[in-house]
Amino acid sequence: MPEAEPRLPPGTSSILSGASENFSFHSSPETFIVNRILQYHKDRPADVDKRTTVRAKILNRNVAVVSSYEQIKQVLDPSDGNVKDGERAPFVATTPYNRLMEPFFPPPNLLLRDGCPHQRSKGEWQQQVQPLMGPNILSGMQKNVSSFMERVPLDVPLDLYATCKDLGWRLFLSTFLGIEPQTTEYNEFEKLQEDLLRGQFSLFPVTVNTGFWHSPRKTGIDARKKLQALIEKRLKTNPPSWLSSQMLSQENLEEAVNHLLMSTSSLAVKGFASMLTALLLNTHLFRPSNSDREGVASWLSSPPVEDQAAKRQAVLKETLRLSPPIVGVMRRATQKRTLQTHGAAEPNVLIPEGWDVWPYFPGGSRDPSVFGADADDFDPLRYMRGDSNPPEPLAFGLGAKRCLGQSFVEEAALAVLEAFQKQKIDLQGTVGAPGVRAWLGWERADPGVWAKDMKQLPTQHPSKPIMVRFVRQQ
Ligand code: HEM
Repeated sequence: MPEAEPRLPPGTSSILSGASENFSFHSSPETFIVNRILQYHKDRPADVDKRTTVRAKILNRNVAVVSSYEQIKQVLDPSDGNVKDGERAPFVATTPYNRLMEPFFPPPNLLLRDGCPHQRSKGEWQQQVQPLMGPNILSGMQKNVSSFMERVPLDVPLDLYATCKDLGWRLFLSTFLGIEPQTTEYNEFEKLQEDLLRGQFSLFPVTVNTGFWHSPRKTGIDARKKLQALIEKRLKTNPPSWLSSQMLSQENLEEAVNHLLMSTSSLAVKGFASMLTALLLNTHLFRPSNSDREGVASWLSSPPVEDQAAKRQAVLKETLRLSPPIVGVMRRATQKRTLQTHGAAEPNVLIPEGWDVWPYFPGGSRDPSVFGADADDFDPLRYMRGDSNPPEPLAFGLGAKRCLGQSFVEEAALAVLEAFQKQKIDLQGTVGAPGVRAWLGWERADPGVWAKDMKQLPTQHPSKPIMVRFVRQQ
């Protein structure tokens, strides 16, 4: 049978609905995207488990929202993605990121590069961050985690996400810049980074300064400039030990400052807090429906000791798979492309040149064609099957632009699990909201419920605080 012609993704294309679509995207990307998928499924009930790429008009551009794992891979890690000098990558990040990122995380920086210049600079930065995984920095980070845990007040109600954010600020500011907590500089950094993030995600599209009223965007850009000046001063007077003298030379200083601005950003700290919140809820509060099975924390600490590290890794992977902190990334097609649709007689997806393409991680990470019929369910054992393990989670991206901080943040999360075990700490509390339980993979819920109980931007976290108590194990 001849192959069907590739087809544009189904969905809205009308300019008239553009404004309201922009708004509903910002208020809840989950409802926005999922409603489009649901509408498509309503029209074609036989296709319920297919991750169909849908079309939307967002910020007045044509956007293909991709939520099939295999198609996300074709966008982020295409087989012809390794371009030569002078060639353009088929999907680029620079153009779609310019509007949202550039005023707040300006070039030169890795995120705003593509193709060959990106490949060269990525290689250099991969070497730069290697000492972060060396014994000195890692043991400093582990000590930092232990002393934080020793000071968490026991037996009092605490907002788990806020506590995880607190730890994130400490780890990131002290590891990347050597700034210690409870100092004026620490508080100033945290406040300026919060202003920057508010500016970045404010809906106000222009900078306004009337003298008596500053838009969040203007405040955010001012905060960015102050942070750059503070980081530069710090690098000149008190450089962190892991950064090479080459990166501190006048020629590379601007880029080093810009990367440290990103590494200590509120966005990175909130990503870490989102990941840790989900990880701790899974470890301490999840009770498998089969009552014969123990809770995750006792499984993690059960013998043999040699298996414990692999089990912690499996719980972290499963958490990142189901609950990726950042819901997706952006690309723009520099040429007409076809995304292959696997299986069934579905036509391939046509992406015209100039379209934006947004890989949507919560969709791809739960794609039943890759993760099985139980793709929505929390089960760390799926990452303990050796050679038949499913693919790695999408949470840190794929391919050339995969996150540079992944190993460090994963080590930090694993250090928290170890500290809980060593200090014999447990968490008490309940997760009642069905949308939060669905986010964690504890039960299934209608996407509308998920959207109501969770915030998705800038990183995923429960809309209402989850209150827990840290307690000493009996
Ligand atoms: C849990 C926290 C974090 C999450 C979920 C996260 C996630 C991501 C994702 C999804 C990307 C891919 C962007 C794309 O493909 O367009 C990315 C890129 C990047 N991340 Fe992270 N990140 C986190 C923390 C960090 C930290 C702490 C650092 C600092 C060391 C960092 C540095 C970077 C850099 C430099 C890039 C750009 C890489 C490139 O363009 O080649 N990230 N991150």
